[in-house]
Amino acid sequence: MKSPLLQLNGVHTHIGAYHILHGVDFDVPAGKVTMLLGRNGAGKTTTLRTIMGLWPVSRGSVLFDDQPIGGSQGQLRTPDIAQLGIAYVPESMGIFADLTVRENLLLAARKARTVEQMDTHRLEWLFGHFPALKKFWLYPAGKLSGGQKQMLAIARAMVEPRRLLLIDEPSKGLAPAIVQNLIAALRGLKSSDTTVLLVEQNFEVARALGDRVAVMDNGRVVYSGAMATLAGDRGLQEKFLGLSLGGH
Ligand SMILES: Nc1ncnc2c1ncn2[C@@H]1O[C@H](COP(=O)(O)OP(=O)(O)OP(=O)(O)O)[C@@H](O)[C@H]1O
Ligand SMILES: [Mg+2]
Repeated sequence: MKSPLLQLNGVHTHIGAYHILHGVDFDVPAGKVTMLLGRNGAGKTTTLRTIMGLWPVSRGSVLFDDQPIGGSQGQLRTPDIAQLGIAYVPESMGIFADLTVRENLLLAARKARTVEQMDTHRLEWLFGHFPALKKFWLYPAGKLSGGQKQMLAIARAMVEPRRLLLIDEPSKGLAPAIVQNLIAALRGLKSSDTTVLLVEQNFEVARALGDRVAVMDNGRVVYSGAMATLAGDRGLQEKFLGLSLGGH
């Protein structure tokens, strides 16, 4: 059997004197969306940053395509990790508010110096998933709505083909109707064979997009399995997510 695209094996991370991750274990299978859930402070962002090499692995290992990228068997630096085809959309999105949508995408393209050099098929493909980018092509990104900014941030990470996308809480602060647009856009990407590791607090988004799920608490993974299993079991949700309000 083919091994998972990304594997975290007993990953510990220290930030300065603080011991934040205490042995994180989970896999991200190729071509699937894996959700990373957990309460505030559980260690989700730290996990993404550790995968990107922004924090070094202090014990355990991170393997990408069976190659060590973090840990004592081989700790790559962030630019080398990105070079392997891993893109990271941080919570802060990292877009340039004063630059246009077009300039934001151009800056994210490593292989093009001018818009003319950009892969037009890929741009059309992105416009297909994120129509707002075409509509606001020459607008400063700062004028986009929160949801449109999220879509621009994700599009920047996908402006060239990537093997793995790490996305931190794209639905944060968005109105429910906009969240639906985001779900639709991310669903579109799912069909493109990109592997995604998606951090979310919004269980509706997780249920709509996730194939697999890992739930974190206190710097560890406390549950992992198929998203459908967690989505269909109130008892598991209550136990691992504290979703006990009997809501939707
Ligand atoms: N730069 C830092 N220095 C010290 N502690 C940090 C730092 N970054 C994160 N932490 C701590 O690590 C723990 C995990 O934080 P992290 O940001 O990974 O959580 P999270 O699951 O992403 O939470 P949220 O849902 O609120 O974004 C928290 O207790 C946090 O205070
Ligand atoms: Mg976070």
